[in-house]
Amino acid sequence: MKTGNMKSGILALLRETDGYLSGEELCGRFGVTRAAVWKAIGQLKQEGYEIEAVRNRGYRLAALPDVLSKDELVSRLRTKWAGKTLEYHASLGSTNVRARLLAEEGAPEGTLVVAETQTVGRGRKGRSWASPPGKNLYFTILLRPSFVPDRAPMLTLVMALSVRDAIEEVCGCESAIKWPNDIVLNGRKITGILTEMNVQSDYIDYVVVGVGVNVKEQEFEADLADRAASLEGELRRSVSRALLLEKILEHFEQNYGLFLEKLDLSLLQERYNACLINRNREVEVLEPAGSYRGRAEGIDAKGRLLVRLADNGLKEIYAGEVSVRGVYGYV
Ligand code: BTN
Repeated sequence: MKTGNMKSGILALLRETDGYLSGEELCGRFGVTRAAVWKAIGQLKQEGYEIEAVRNRGYRLAALPDVLSKDELVSRLRTKWAGKTLEYHASLGSTNVRARLLAEEGAPEGTLVVAETQTVGRGRKGRSWASPPGKNLYFTILLRPSFVPDRAPMLTLVMALSVRDAIEEVCGCESAIKWPNDIVLNGRKITGILTEMNVQSDYIDYVVVGVGVNVKEQEFEADLADRAASLEGELRRSVSRALLLEKILEHFEQNYGLFLEKLDLSLLQERYNACLINRNREVEVLEPAGSYRGRAEGIDAKGRLLVRLADNGLKEIYAGEVSVRGVYGYV
Protein backbone atom coordinates (compact mmCIF):
# COMPACT_ATOMS: atom_id res chain seq x y z
CA MET A 1 0.00 0.00 0.00
CA LYS A 2 1.23 3.49 -0.81
CA THR A 3 2.14 5.54 2.27
CA GLY A 4 -0.25 8.29 1.10
CA ASN A 5 -3.23 5.90 1.02
CA MET A 6 -2.29 4.48 4.38
CA LYS A 7 -1.92 7.93 5.92
CA SER A 8 -5.37 9.02 4.78
CA GLY A 9 -6.76 5.66 5.92
CA ILE A 10 -5.21 6.05 9.37
CA LEU A 11 -6.54 9.60 9.58
CA ALA A 12 -10.07 8.48 8.73
CA LEU A 13 -9.91 5.75 11.39
CA LEU A 14 -8.48 8.08 14.03
CA ARG A 15 -11.23 10.57 13.32
CA GLU A 16 -13.94 7.91 13.61
CA THR A 17 -12.56 6.39 16.82
CA ASP A 18 -13.50 7.88 20.16
CA GLY A 19 -10.76 6.28 22.27
CA TYR A 20 -7.42 4.81 21.26
CA LEU A 21 -6.65 2.81 18.15
CA SER A 22 -4.06 0.15 18.81
CA GLY A 23 -0.96 -0.10 16.67
CA GLU A 24 -1.77 -3.77 16.20
CA GLU A 25 -5.18 -3.00 14.75
CA LEU A 26 -3.67 -0.47 12.35
CA CYS A 27 -1.05 -3.01 11.24
CA GLY A 28 -3.81 -5.56 10.63
CA ARG A 29 -6.01 -3.13 8.72
CA PHE A 30 -3.32 -2.04 6.36
CA GLY A 31 -1.25 -5.21 6.31
CA VAL A 32 1.95 -3.39 7.29
CA THR A 33 4.54 -3.53 10.05
CA ARG A 34 4.47 -1.52 13.25
CA ALA A 35 7.41 0.47 11.95
CA ALA A 36 5.41 1.47 8.87
CA VAL A 37 2.48 2.62 11.04
CA TRP A 38 4.84 4.51 13.29
CA LYS A 39 6.38 6.22 10.27
CA ALA A 40 2.99 7.25 8.87
CA ILE A 41 1.96 8.60 12.28
CA GLY A 42 5.20 10.59 12.39
CA GLN A 43 4.44 12.10 8.98
CA LEU A 44 0.93 13.02 10.03
CA LYS A 45 2.33 14.77 13.10
CA GLN A 46 4.64 16.72 10.83
CA GLU A 47 1.65 17.80 8.77
CA GLY A 48 0.18 19.36 11.91
CA TYR A 49 -1.95 16.63 13.51
CA GLU A 50 -1.71 16.26 17.25
CA ILE A 51 -1.57 12.51 17.75
CA GLU A 52 -1.15 11.12 21.23
CA ALA A 53 0.64 7.77 21.52
CA VAL A 54 0.17 5.79 24.72
CA ARG A 55 1.97 2.52 25.41
CA ASN A 56 -0.37 -0.48 25.43
CA ARG A 57 -3.31 1.58 24.25
CA GLY A 58 -2.33 3.00 20.92
CA TYR A 59 -2.97 6.25 19.10
CA ARG A 60 -5.57 8.97 19.52
CA LEU A 61 -6.25 12.25 17.73
CA ALA A 62 -5.79 14.77 20.51
CA ALA A 63 -6.98 17.75 18.50
CA LEU A 64 -8.45 18.39 15.10
CA PRO A 65 -6.30 21.09 13.53
CA ASP A 66 -7.54 22.85 10.43
CA VAL A 67 -5.17 21.03 8.10
CA LEU A 68 -5.91 21.22 4.40
CA SER A 69 -3.77 18.54 2.83
CA LYS A 70 -4.23 15.78 0.31
CA ASP A 71 -4.37 13.17 3.11
CA GLU A 72 -6.96 15.16 5.00
CA LEU A 73 -9.17 15.52 1.94
CA VAL A 74 -8.78 11.94 0.71
CA SER A 75 -9.56 10.65 4.20
CA ARG A 76 -12.82 12.60 4.18
CA LEU A 77 -14.27 12.36 0.71
CA ARG A 78 -17.17 9.91 0.42
CA THR A 79 -18.43 11.25 -2.90
CA LYS A 80 -19.02 9.07 -5.94
CA TRP A 81 -17.13 11.12 -8.51
CA ALA A 82 -16.51 14.66 -7.25
CA GLY A 83 -12.90 14.92 -6.11
CA LYS A 84 -12.05 11.28 -6.77
CA THR A 85 -9.08 12.57 -8.73
CA LEU A 86 -7.50 15.20 -6.54
CA GLU A 87 -4.54 17.52 -6.83
CA TYR A 88 -3.46 19.48 -3.82
CA HIS A 89 -0.93 22.32 -4.07
CA ALA A 90 0.60 24.28 -1.22
CA SER A 91 0.91 27.16 -3.67
CA LEU A 92 -0.45 27.60 -7.18
CA GLY A 93 -1.07 30.43 -9.64
CA SER A 94 -4.78 29.71 -9.96
CA THR A 95 -6.74 26.49 -9.42
CA ASN A 96 -8.91 27.38 -12.43
CA VAL A 97 -5.89 27.69 -14.71
CA ARG A 98 -4.46 24.40 -13.40
CA ALA A 99 -7.81 22.61 -13.83
CA ARG A 100 -8.05 23.86 -17.43
CA LEU A 101 -4.60 22.52 -18.14
CA LEU A 102 -5.52 19.14 -16.64
CA ALA A 103 -8.70 19.15 -18.73
CA GLU A 104 -6.63 19.70 -21.88
CA GLU A 105 -4.52 16.72 -20.84
CA GLY A 106 -7.62 14.52 -20.54
CA ALA A 107 -8.31 14.59 -16.78
CA PRO A 108 -11.61 12.92 -15.85
CA GLU A 109 -14.87 14.53 -14.79
CA GLY A 110 -14.84 15.47 -11.11
CA THR A 111 -11.10 16.19 -10.99
CA LEU A 112 -10.53 18.57 -8.10
CA VAL A 113 -7.69 21.06 -7.74
CA VAL A 114 -7.17 22.57 -4.30
CA ALA A 115 -4.60 25.17 -3.27
CA GLU A 116 -3.57 26.49 0.11
CA THR A 117 -2.66 29.79 -1.52
CA GLN A 118 -2.90 31.24 -5.04
CA THR A 119 -0.42 33.72 -6.43
CA VAL A 120 -2.69 34.93 -9.23
CA GLY A 121 -6.18 34.04 -8.00
CA ARG A 122 -8.75 35.17 -10.54
CA GLY A 123 -12.12 36.76 -9.95
CA ARG A 124 -14.98 37.53 -12.28
CA LYS A 125 -14.75 40.30 -14.88
CA GLY A 126 -10.95 40.15 -15.01
CA ARG A 127 -10.55 41.05 -11.36
CA SER A 128 -8.07 39.35 -9.08
CA TRP A 129 -9.01 37.21 -6.06
CA ALA A 130 -6.86 37.70 -2.99
CA SER A 131 -5.75 34.23 -1.87
CA PRO A 132 -3.67 34.30 1.33
CA PRO A 133 -2.54 30.97 2.86
CA GLY A 134 -4.04 29.37 5.95
CA LYS A 135 -7.29 31.28 5.75
CA ASN A 136 -9.61 30.18 3.01
CA LEU A 137 -10.71 27.59 0.51
CA TYR A 138 -9.61 27.86 -3.11
CA PHE A 139 -10.62 24.99 -5.34
CA THR A 140 -11.82 24.13 -8.83
CA ILE A 141 -13.81 21.17 -10.06
CA LEU A 142 -13.68 19.93 -13.64
CA LEU A 143 -16.87 18.86 -15.44
CA ARG A 144 -17.29 17.30 -18.84
CA PRO A 145 -21.00 17.69 -19.52
CA SER A 146 -22.64 16.45 -22.67
CA PHE A 147 -25.30 19.16 -22.84
CA VAL A 148 -25.24 22.18 -25.12
CA PRO A 149 -23.08 25.18 -24.20
CA ASP A 150 -25.94 27.57 -23.41
CA ARG A 151 -26.79 25.48 -20.30
CA ALA A 152 -23.32 25.85 -18.79
CA PRO A 153 -23.82 29.20 -16.99
CA MET A 154 -26.45 27.45 -14.85
CA LEU A 155 -23.69 25.35 -13.29
CA THR A 156 -22.52 28.41 -11.41
CA LEU A 157 -25.92 28.64 -9.75
CA VAL A 158 -25.82 24.94 -8.93
CA MET A 159 -22.48 25.47 -7.20
CA ALA A 160 -23.72 28.57 -5.36
CA LEU A 161 -26.62 26.59 -3.95
CA SER A 162 -24.28 23.75 -2.97
CA VAL A 163 -21.92 26.07 -1.11
CA ARG A 164 -24.89 27.59 0.69
CA ASP A 165 -26.22 24.12 1.61
CA ALA A 166 -22.80 23.07 2.92
CA ILE A 167 -22.44 26.22 5.02
CA GLU A 168 -25.82 25.49 6.56
CA GLU A 169 -24.84 21.91 7.35
CA VAL A 170 -21.39 22.72 8.74
CA CYS A 171 -22.04 26.05 10.46
CA GLY A 172 -25.76 25.79 11.18
CA CYS A 173 -26.40 29.22 9.71
CA GLU A 174 -28.48 30.46 6.82
CA SER A 175 -26.38 32.32 4.30
CA ALA A 176 -27.95 33.89 1.24
CA ILE A 177 -27.20 34.00 -2.47
CA LYS A 178 -26.77 37.24 -4.35
CA TRP A 179 -27.66 36.47 -7.92
CA PRO A 180 -26.11 34.78 -9.70
CA ASN A 181 -23.41 33.27 -7.54
CA ASP A 182 -22.09 35.26 -4.58
CA ILE A 183 -22.74 33.83 -1.14
CA VAL A 184 -23.57 36.49 1.37
CA LEU A 185 -23.62 36.45 5.15
CA ASN A 186 -24.87 39.46 7.13
CA GLY A 187 -24.94 41.44 3.90
CA ARG A 188 -21.28 40.74 3.02
CA LYS A 189 -19.72 38.48 0.44
CA ILE A 190 -18.05 35.33 1.78
CA THR A 191 -17.77 33.30 -1.44
CA GLY A 192 -17.09 33.93 -5.11
CA ILE A 193 -17.45 31.50 -8.00
CA LEU A 194 -15.76 31.68 -11.37
CA THR A 195 -16.99 29.30 -14.08
CA GLU A 196 -15.05 29.00 -17.31
CA MET A 197 -15.58 26.68 -20.23
CA ASN A 198 -14.03 25.49 -23.42
CA VAL A 199 -16.47 25.05 -26.26
CA GLN A 200 -15.86 23.27 -29.58
CA SER A 201 -18.32 24.69 -32.11
CA ASP A 202 -21.58 23.32 -30.63
CA TYR A 203 -20.47 21.09 -27.77
CA ILE A 204 -18.76 21.63 -24.46
CA ASP A 205 -15.26 20.27 -24.20
CA TYR A 206 -15.05 21.01 -20.47
CA VAL A 207 -16.22 23.37 -17.76
CA VAL A 208 -14.25 24.37 -14.69
CA VAL A 209 -16.06 25.77 -11.67
CA GLY A 210 -13.70 27.61 -9.30
CA VAL A 211 -14.74 28.55 -5.79
CA GLY A 212 -13.16 30.81 -3.19
CA VAL A 213 -14.66 30.74 0.32
CA ASN A 214 -13.45 33.18 2.98
CA VAL A 215 -13.26 31.08 6.13
CA LYS A 216 -10.93 32.60 8.75
CA GLU A 217 -11.01 36.16 9.96
CA GLN A 218 -8.72 38.37 7.86
CA GLU A 219 -8.02 41.88 6.71
CA PHE A 220 -9.55 42.63 3.32
CA GLU A 221 -8.14 45.09 0.83
CA ALA A 222 -9.46 48.60 1.35
CA ASP A 223 -11.82 48.56 -1.64
CA LEU A 224 -13.46 45.33 -0.41
CA ALA A 225 -13.48 46.00 3.31
CA ASP A 226 -17.14 47.03 3.52
CA ARG A 227 -18.40 44.26 1.22
CA ALA A 228 -16.31 41.20 2.11
CA ALA A 229 -16.44 39.01 5.18
CA SER A 230 -15.42 35.56 6.40
CA LEU A 231 -17.39 32.76 7.99
CA GLU A 232 -15.44 32.77 11.25
CA GLY A 233 -15.42 36.55 11.41
CA GLU A 234 -19.20 36.67 11.15
CA LEU A 235 -20.06 33.56 13.16
CA ARG A 236 -17.45 33.86 15.91
CA ARG A 237 -16.77 30.14 15.94
CA SER A 238 -14.20 27.95 14.29
CA VAL A 239 -14.95 26.34 10.95
CA SER A 240 -12.95 23.44 9.49
CA ARG A 241 -11.99 24.13 5.90
CA ALA A 242 -11.64 20.44 5.08
CA LEU A 243 -15.08 19.61 6.48
CA LEU A 244 -16.59 22.49 4.57
CA LEU A 245 -14.99 21.37 1.30
CA GLU A 246 -16.14 17.78 1.95
CA LYS A 247 -19.73 18.97 2.38
CA ILE A 248 -19.62 21.35 -0.60
CA LEU A 249 -18.62 18.45 -2.85
CA GLU A 250 -21.34 16.20 -1.42
CA HIS A 251 -24.02 18.82 -1.98
CA PHE A 252 -22.66 19.64 -5.42
CA GLU A 253 -22.83 16.00 -6.45
CA GLN A 254 -26.46 15.85 -5.33
CA ASN A 255 -27.53 19.16 -6.80
CA TYR A 256 -25.72 18.54 -10.07
CA GLY A 257 -27.59 15.23 -10.32
CA LEU A 258 -30.88 17.11 -9.96
CA PHE A 259 -29.75 19.58 -12.60
CA LEU A 260 -28.89 16.75 -15.02
CA GLU A 261 -32.33 15.17 -14.60
CA LYS A 262 -34.00 18.12 -16.33
CA LEU A 263 -31.01 19.88 -17.84
CA ASP A 264 -32.20 23.03 -16.16
CA LEU A 265 -32.76 24.37 -12.67
CA SER A 266 -36.42 23.41 -12.32
CA LEU A 267 -35.70 20.98 -9.47
CA LEU A 268 -33.47 23.51 -7.68
CA GLN A 269 -35.24 26.77 -8.46
CA GLU A 270 -37.50 26.79 -5.39
CA ARG A 271 -34.63 26.22 -2.97
CA TYR A 272 -32.47 28.76 -4.80
CA ASN A 273 -35.19 31.39 -4.69
CA ALA A 274 -35.81 30.75 -1.00
CA CYS A 275 -32.31 31.96 -0.20
CA LEU A 276 -31.98 34.61 -2.91
CA ILE A 277 -31.16 37.86 -1.15
CA ASN A 278 -32.31 39.99 -4.08
CA ARG A 279 -35.77 38.50 -4.05
CA ASN A 280 -38.52 41.08 -3.63
CA ARG A 281 -35.93 43.83 -3.40
CA GLU A 282 -35.26 46.81 -5.60
CA VAL A 283 -32.21 46.15 -7.75
CA GLU A 284 -30.15 48.12 -10.18
CA VAL A 285 -29.31 46.22 -13.34
CA LEU A 286 -26.05 47.35 -14.92
CA GLU A 287 -25.95 46.47 -18.60
CA PRO A 288 -23.22 47.55 -21.00
CA ALA A 289 -25.75 49.81 -22.70
CA GLY A 290 -26.93 51.47 -19.51
CA SER A 291 -28.62 50.77 -16.21
CA TYR A 292 -32.19 50.49 -14.99
CA ARG A 293 -34.06 49.59 -11.84
CA GLY A 294 -36.74 47.10 -10.97
CA ARG A 295 -37.92 44.62 -8.39
CA ALA A 296 -36.27 41.18 -8.48
CA GLU A 297 -38.85 38.40 -8.36
CA GLY A 298 -36.54 35.36 -8.40
CA ILE A 299 -34.94 33.10 -10.96
CA ASP A 300 -36.65 30.99 -13.60
CA ALA A 301 -35.71 27.43 -14.53
CA LYS A 302 -32.95 28.75 -16.80
CA GLY A 303 -31.34 30.69 -13.98
CA ARG A 304 -32.39 34.07 -15.39
CA LEU A 305 -33.23 36.76 -12.87
CA LEU A 306 -36.75 38.04 -13.38
CA VAL A 307 -36.97 41.77 -12.78
CA ARG A 308 -40.31 43.58 -12.69
CA LEU A 309 -40.08 47.11 -14.09
CA ALA A 310 -42.06 50.16 -13.00
CA ASP A 311 -44.30 49.84 -16.08
CA ASN A 312 -45.04 46.23 -15.02
CA GLY A 313 -42.94 44.78 -17.83
CA LEU A 314 -40.77 41.78 -16.98
CA LYS A 315 -37.08 41.56 -17.85
CA GLU A 316 -35.31 38.20 -17.94
CA ILE A 317 -31.68 38.76 -17.18
CA TYR A 318 -28.93 36.34 -18.12
CA ALA A 319 -25.84 36.23 -15.95
CA GLY A 320 -22.76 37.29 -17.82
CA GLU A 321 -22.12 40.83 -18.87
CA VAL A 322 -24.84 42.11 -16.62
CA SER A 323 -24.42 42.81 -12.93
CA VAL A 324 -27.08 43.44 -10.39
CA ARG A 325 -26.74 45.29 -7.15
CA GLY A 326 -28.97 46.61 -4.45
CA VAL A 327 -30.24 50.12 -4.87
CA TYR A 328 -28.52 51.10 -1.63
CA GLY A 329 -25.29 49.15 -2.06
CA TYR A 330 -23.88 45.67 -2.67
CA VAL A 331 -27.14 43.83 -1.86
C1 BTN B 1 -15.62 36.34 -8.05
O1 BTN B 1 -15.04 37.30 -8.57
O2 BTN B 1 -16.58 36.51 -7.29
C2 BTN B 1 -15.17 34.95 -8.34
C3 BTN B 1 -13.98 34.54 -7.51
C4 BTN B 1 -13.53 33.11 -7.74
C5 BTN B 1 -12.29 32.78 -6.96
C6 BTN B 1 -11.92 31.33 -7.06
S1 BTN B 1 -10.65 30.88 -5.93
C7 BTN B 1 -10.48 29.33 -6.71
C8 BTN B 1 -10.61 29.56 -8.20
N1 BTN B 1 -9.34 29.89 -8.78
C9 BTN B 1 -9.30 31.14 -9.23
O3 BTN B 1 -8.30 31.68 -9.75
N2 BTN B 1 -10.48 31.73 -9.04
C10 BTN B 1 -11.44 30.84 -8.42
